[in-house]
Amino acid sequence: MRVITTISDLKAAIKAEKSQQKTIGFVPTMGYLHEGHKALLKKAREENQVVVLSIFVNPLQFGPNEDLESYPRDFEQDQKVAQEEGVDIIFHPSVTEMYPNELSVTMKVKKRTDVLCGESRPGHFDGVATVVSKLFHLVQPDKAYFGKKDAQQLAVIEGLVNDFNFPLQIVPVDTVREHDGLAKSSRNVYLSEKERAEAPALYRSLLDAVNRIKAGEVNPERIVQVISDRIQTETSGQIDYVSILTYPDLEKVEVVQGNFIMALAVKFSKARLIDNVILVEE
Ligand code: PAJ
Repeated sequence: MRVITTISDLKAAIKAEKSQQKTIGFVPTMGYLHEGHKALLKKAREENQVVVLSIFVNPLQFGPNEDLESYPRDFEQDQKVAQEEGVDIIFHPSVTEMYPNELSVTMKVKKRTDVLCGESRPGHFDGVATVVSKLFHLVQPDKAYFGKKDAQQLAVIEGLVNDFNFPLQIVPVDTVREHDGLAKSSRNVYLSEKERAEAPALYRSLLDAVNRIKAGEVNPERIVQVISDRIQTETSGQIDYVSILTYPDLEKVEVVQGNFIMALAVKFSKARLIDNVILVEE
């Protein structure tokens, strides 16, 4: 496993792999790797000859009052995880390596961002699309792996790849959860003991809604209400949003049917958690 910190070294390494016609699988992350990231790495390892992992906490996607400074980091531990998962190259650039000057061109995401996390995090997905575009150009992967946990991010990236004809395939990976259903997240470490005990209610409320839909409920407002009530009763968190939208276009639904997503974000004292369930027609 090689750790690469500069763009010039990465370009040389990718060129060497490409000259041998090797397939490249890419897993972009912000580090502090957990089981969710590992699932992406495992899939990439199975499907490609070379696995590239990027670890870069991207300032462009954090708002002024968000947790850029306090975002958890542990590069030593991440290297161990990467080694265990059979990663070939870790790309771990500094902020100045990625953005030596103020960018003269950035990505502006026009669709799928005025809802869910896009609404409360203006500019967030522009920052994601900008860094991911840069990383795709550098790594030139055949396949890139994204978690369904960040379903809106996945939808935005799929739009980006289609609109700009990136020559690669996006592979969605199911959300990995704790035993009690809480979606694994680097931010879970910021939950107090009490909040950690309450947090599984988020996923439980989504599963409860799935059961209601399976039993015939089609009214989105009623389903949103049931989910919200449950979160309010069972947690001390503050609801940021609970929404039901079409997937992957993320448009408003009048009647719950077809392919759709139920997604929520809840703020606890030091962590904002997101979760979702995507239902697709068989
Ligand atoms: P990060 O939050 O580190 O997540 C990296 C990848 O891991 C994303 O594709 C995310 O959806 C996936 N992931 C996180 N938790 C998961 C879980 N519990 N189950 C399955 N997959 C999970 O997402 C980012 O970084 C950044 O926005 C990035 C794409 C790297 C751009 O900076």
